[in-house]
Amino acid sequence: MSHLSVTEALTTRKSVRVFDDKPVPQSLLREILALAGRSASGGNVQPWKVDVLTGDALKQLAGTVQGFIQNSGGKTEPEFPTYPNKMADPYHERRGTCGEVMYEALGIARDDKMKRIMQTMKNYDFFGAPVGIILSMEREMGQPQCLDIGIYMQSIMLLAKERGLDTCPQVSWTVFPQPVREALGLDDNMKIMAGICLGYKAEDQPVNELSQARAELSDYVTFRGFE
Ligand SMILES: Cc1cc2nc3c(=O)[nH]c(=O)nc-3n(C[C@H](O)[C@H](O)[C@H](O)COP(=O)(O)O)c2cc1C
Repeated sequence: MSHLSVTEALTTRKSVRVFDDKPVPQSLLREILALAGRSASGGNVQPWKVDVLTGDALKQLAGTVQGFIQNSGGKTEPEFPTYPNKMADPYHERRGTCGEVMYEALGIARDDKMKRIMQTMKNYDFFGAPVGIILSMEREMGQPQCLDIGIYMQSIMLLAKERGLDTCPQVSWTVFPQPVREALGLDDNMKIMAGICLGYKAEDQPVNELSQARAELSDYVTFRGFE
């Protein structure tokens, strides 16, 4: 295991979207998840439920969701809107830039709708990662518990990075929650919150080396009461 500081793990983590097929030992996943379980949560509620998939189980989930998308023509009842209906700048602009940077690295032109759709569909195979994680929580949970899930996701991503693994967080699975629940045998009470692709990143893939910009502190931080 490498010995990355938290700062190093945070600054070197990037979303990876092409993976090597090298398997990830279950023992390593257990270690990551046991440590991620140390994440803070409001009232120590620990609302996360975690499905960890590889091999046939992963293929079955991917097949079920891809089949659903094809049969329904993409019609679905998402768990929640991925973005607000109207998103003003700078958020709207940041979202647009994020996509442009990614499609440029993939060599996909702005007007090549078909290739863009095909790239989006790769979400539903965990971008070829050997391990896929689905995070869910009970439906009665509220917005504070969504924060807990986000903190838990970040823990998984940084712990993976520390162990030489890469990840991609995914909201995509929440767009088609019905077939996800069906494939995993989860009842309707379980809300699909996110996915995480996890594995060893493929080298020499420009899309894995994106430099997604970040806003300046002065854009969003207000220090108060300092001399
Ligand atoms: C909650 C969340 C959901 C995301 N969903 C997706 C997704 O469905 N598909 C995808 O390719 N990337 C997804 N991303 C990755 C973001 O696009 C990425 O984090 C952002 O562009 C910043 O790039 P970086 O992770 O490489 O620093 C998601 C990230 C987060 C935090």
